Amino acid sequence: MTQLTHRRRFLATSAAAAIAVCSAGPVRAADAFRIGLIAPLTGPFASTGKQLEAAARLYIARHGDAVAGRQVELIVKDDGGNAEVTKRLAQELIIGDKVQVIAGFGLTPLAFATAPVATQSKTPMVVMAAATSSITESSPWIVRSSFTVAQGVAALADWAAKNGIKRVVSLVSDYGPGVDAEKFFNERFVARGGTIVEPIRVPLRNPDFAPFLQKVRDAKPDALFAFVPAGVGSALMKQFSERGLDKAGIRLIAEGSVTDDDILDGMGDVAVGVVTSHHYSAAHNSPANKAFVEAFAAANGGRRPNFMAVGAWDGMHLIYEAAKATGGAGGEALLNAMKSQSFESPRGPVQIDPATRDIVQNIYIRKVERINGQLWNREVDTLPMVKDPGKTKP
Ligand code: PHB
Repeated sequence: MTQLTHRRRFLATSAAAAIAVCSAGPVRAADAFRIGLIAPLTGPFASTGKQLEAAARLYIARHGDAVAGRQVELIVKDDGGNAEVTKRLAQELIIGDKVQVIAGFGLTPLAFATAPVATQSKTPMVVMAAATSSITESSPWIVRSSFTVAQGVAALADWAAKNGIKRVVSLVSDYGPGVDAEKFFNERFVARGGTIVEPIRVPLRNPDFAPFLQKVRDAKPDALFAFVPAGVGSALMKQFSERGLDKAGIRLIAEGSVTDDDILDGMGDVAVGVVTSHHYSAAHNSPANKAFVEAFAAANGGRRPNFMAVGAWDGMHLIYEAAKATGGAGGEALLNAMKSQSFESPRGPVQIDPATRDIVQNIYIRKVERINGQLWNREVDTLPMVKDPGKTKP
């Protein structure tokens, strides 16, 4: 008998004994369905953690704090964006708090560091934020509710080639999703007849964009294609303008993380006209999204949800629906019940591909516009139900 079966039998027997003693009564914490949410709530990527936590809490507030007859307990931990801490917190949540599922993962290295913990403990792991294609291949226990960077950027390369852009410099953060952005944008753009004048990679932590942007200015491409993770786009946009790239006639096109809805409105006029591709805009025109944006703002002092919030909201939906389908069981049953779900998200229709455990979703081409005095990513074109093109294994 495996250790896990032992533990389940033990829990089942002691639960039955407890019920025999106190016949009826309030739902006891021992029976709680526990979700461990690990996110960067402090440090340079705190905006991601705050969006994830706010959306997970909102989901519970709107859908009830009980599922399959069990009390839902959300245990939130701050990893500060440090992969060693993420891994340790995951171990503590699984062994100490006995969570049924671990969730969150604000950056790629944090997800990779934790994947072996999910595998060894046979704990479902819902990646709500990190977006490097190969993450889902690092553990069979991972399901992703966010997106992949590779999923969106090919559509942007097509848009650029069709819209008179011929020479591009690419500038990406030098880690997993940036490398994916560079590969999938640049290869597609070249296949469409474009030229990559120079691929530039900048450090993930504390990047000073100025010297890199000076190089871009000197190279005089038609456009700069950029990827930086959520929260960092403001600094890039500010220096793009300070270095006079806009005045020099260089267009900015980007992976949608750059015009992150959480910070977009503070970027000012330099952002107007920037074209991006992504899976979620707070301006997405659907009743489900309007309700989501309104509820999020009401619960968070007027703050706008970004794509991190929608990743957490949908990740909670996967967990709740799976828990309902399995009667609150954890482990493999919970994982399997998450693997083939499809539903209407605030971002549009979504589906988990059971073969890859990755999300299939619409990709939108968006343009930053000032609407009623505020900056928004307005969707101008839709590519329906795009699969991640970046899997390395067949
Ligand atoms: C990642 O680290 O995978 C990541 C984080 C933020 C983004 C995109 C990708 O906006």
